[in-house]
Amino acid sequence: MEKLAIHGGAPVKSTPFPTWPIYDEAEENALMEVLKSRQWWRTPGTRTLQFEQNFAKYHQAKHGIAVTNGTAALEVVMAALGIGLGDEVIIPDFTFVATASAVLFTGAMPALVDVLPDTYCIDPDKVEAAINERTKAIIAVHVAGHPADMDRLREIAKEHNLYLVEDSSHAHGAEWKGQKVGALGDVGTFSFQQSKLMTAGEGGMIVTNNDEVEKFVRSVHDCGRMPGEWFYAHFIYGSNYRLSEWQGAVLDQQLLRLKDQTAVRTKNAAYLNEKLSQIEGITPQKLDSRVTCHPQYCYIFHYDSGAFAGASTESFIKAINAEGIPNQASYPPVHALDVFTSGEYKKRLLPDHVEEAEAYIHAEYPNSDRGYLETVWLPQPVLLGTQEDMDKIVEAVKKIQRNAASLKDN
Ligand SMILES: Cc1ncc(COP(=O)(O)O)c(C=O)c1O
Repeated sequence: MEKLAIHGGAPVKSTPFPTWPIYDEAEENALMEVLKSRQWWRTPGTRTLQFEQNFAKYHQAKHGIAVTNGTAALEVVMAALGIGLGDEVIIPDFTFVATASAVLFTGAMPALVDVLPDTYCIDPDKVEAAINERTKAIIAVHVAGHPADMDRLREIAKEHNLYLVEDSSHAHGAEWKGQKVGALGDVGTFSFQQSKLMTAGEGGMIVTNNDEVEKFVRSVHDCGRMPGEWFYAHFIYGSNYRLSEWQGAVLDQQLLRLKDQTAVRTKNAAYLNEKLSQIEGITPQKLDSRVTCHPQYCYIFHYDSGAFAGASTESFIKAINAEGIPNQASYPPVHALDVFTSGEYKKRLLPDHVEEAEAYIHAEYPNSDRGYLETVWLPQPVLLGTQEDMDKIVEAVKKIQRNAASLKDN
């Protein structure tokens, strides 16, 4: 009789998926060049500068400013846009903590709104409803690489005179109606952390088409300096968020791999969409028809326990891991994070903002909760596998479904 791997049966997949990060002599040579150049920091260096230009060009943006990580990128943007005490920035409740913490960092309140039930990206109607006199900006997150509804968000931002920031940490090379994300709004941020679509272990980027925004972002990321001025002249608030030459050199090579890797991931994702959507209880993340490239930082699907004999998402995830299919945890909703539920976040706000801010923490976010509790995320290296690897994923889901009753007491 068939037995699930979690109960001692043979796993569906016994060979590994591609390992990440991917590198070869190109990265090795780039690192050795930096070593020998003895220019290891950004300031007089050329590699990070070169990478900034190449990355911005790839994303159809005028400017690129490299920073230490994706969280720092958001913090620099918030400071550069002048967001501060008493302000509000509208963000999705379903995102990594950095989208919220970068707002708190400035003394502003992240105004949480729910996401759409099918793409898990910020709901534009909810954004519109959250706008008040304190609102200064909207941060859209392109969840798993799927661009948020940039048409609606741009309209809303324009009508209410708000900055539109794209947290594109998942979305290197993603496209909305043929345009790369990042500079579709006023300014966009990227992460190059280990798991991301290109990486130097850590790293971040800010892109924009706006010269004024670029000037302030660049200054904030470099201790408040201004171009052409004395090294020890500091004109505005800033800090040191500069990316090292090592990381710039590695990332410039990683960028060269992005297009081909994206093509493999999108092809495999389309295949999985077709096969998995035929399984009762499995609903892949919806692909909005205006999205012309979804680079698949993760492959997300909704899991309906009703079609799996009531086995919880947690049990399903344990079972699929045992079958040899890795997964990545979904994000807990921002409103449920300890920093908010404990009230700790209030220390960042003006006293007269606290009562209003509390409402966001206690509001209902059903789609965000559902995204946390009922979705399964396959990490991007899985999508770099072969079609046979994708078949194994489908086979594992079907096997679990056939034997789901045995999971109930697991
Ligand atoms: C949506 C989102 N925003 C921001 C970040 C922060 O990036 P980093 O980890 O490079 O600080 C991440 C990455 O983990 C992310 O997933």
